Amino acid sequence: MRILGIETSCDETGVAVYDADSGLLANRLHSQIALHQAYGGVVPELASRDHVRRLLPLVREALAEACADPASIDGIAYTAGPGLIGALIVGAGFAKSLGYAWGKPAIGIHHLEGHLLAPLLEPRPPQFPFLALIVSGGHTQLVDVAGMGRYRILGESLDDAAGEAFDKTAKLLGLPYPGGAALAALAELGRSGAFAFPRPMLDRAGLEFSFSGLKTAVRVALRGRALTDALRADVARGFEDAVVDTLSEKCRRALRLSGHRRLVVAGGVGANRRLRERLRSVAQESGAEAFFPRPEFCTDNGAMIALAGCMRLAAGADAAVAPAARASWPLGEDATTGG
Ligand code: KG4
Ligand code: ZN
Repeated sequence: MRILGIETSCDETGVAVYDADSGLLANRLHSQIALHQAYGGVVPELASRDHVRRLLPLVREALAEACADPASIDGIAYTAGPGLIGALIVGAGFAKSLGYAWGKPAIGIHHLEGHLLAPLLEPRPPQFPFLALIVSGGHTQLVDVAGMGRYRILGESLDDAAGEAFDKTAKLLGLPYPGGAALAALAELGRSGAFAFPRPMLDRAGLEFSFSGLKTAVRVALRGRALTDALRADVARGFEDAVVDTLSEKCRRALRLSGHRRLVVAGGVGANRRLRERLRSVAQESGAEAFFPRPEFCTDNGAMIALAGCMRLAAGADAAVAPAARASWPLGEDATTGG
């Protein structure tokens, strides 16, 4: 089975070809960061328009890279949600039209399912079942993954997602959007312990997260102070330490409570070096093994959607009942209900 994957849920246009026997044959990405940077965040209307512009050329490039013609493609997988509704509709309409023209099924994929399956693109993939930590710009969730499509959310953020907290704090430090990776780079120059920011929700039992207070603590710490390079670096380091401590402690608890022996980390914040290091130790101390996608498969990409589509179609998923596009779609909820 060979699947064309299409990702357009936010500000990256991703197109990839995944083959069940040979693995990933092509992976193309166009990032819209430059388009949105002047606005300090993603402008939904501009994102949709740019996806329209980029999709066809990227599909042509991906098919050429894979040395695949449309006849060799068995299905088209697209991100059906959650995400920016206009951006999702562009991808869904494009994928369904391509499916009609090629006479192939088009299947809608849950964006977070794509993320949590991304480590399966690596040479040493995790087996089911596993515990997944999804840390992206829109979500922070601990998920019990019993098998393909069998997801139970164990805990999630009550307010900001971890990536959102990184981006908002980066903005406070004068870094351009999206600031997660830039903040992490700045933190490398800072001193650990110069700022003691709170570790939200660690004093309470359970697997819930909360990051909005942390961002406020950063704002308060910066109030009335000159934003020197040294201060910015120390604050970045203090913030990153607090997020890494919080996420890793909740993972330790979740491993203990669930009894899982495998921890999968996915989503954009999963690219963070310090978080990866710490989670590797936490897994080891808990008698478990940690699995990470390579950094470019942590952030949004078409490869994870092509892989998820391949696994869904191989498991007998019915493309006819796939949702077109859903801005909001809780992981684990039946695709055909709600939204
Ligand atoms: O998964 P993703 O590409 O998009 C969503 O589905 O949301 O995640 C994007 C998020 C952004 O908030 C970005 O700032 C953050 O991931 N991010 C990072 C790093 N690289 C990307 N956060 C911390 N450290 C990084 N190295
Ligand atoms: Zn994502």
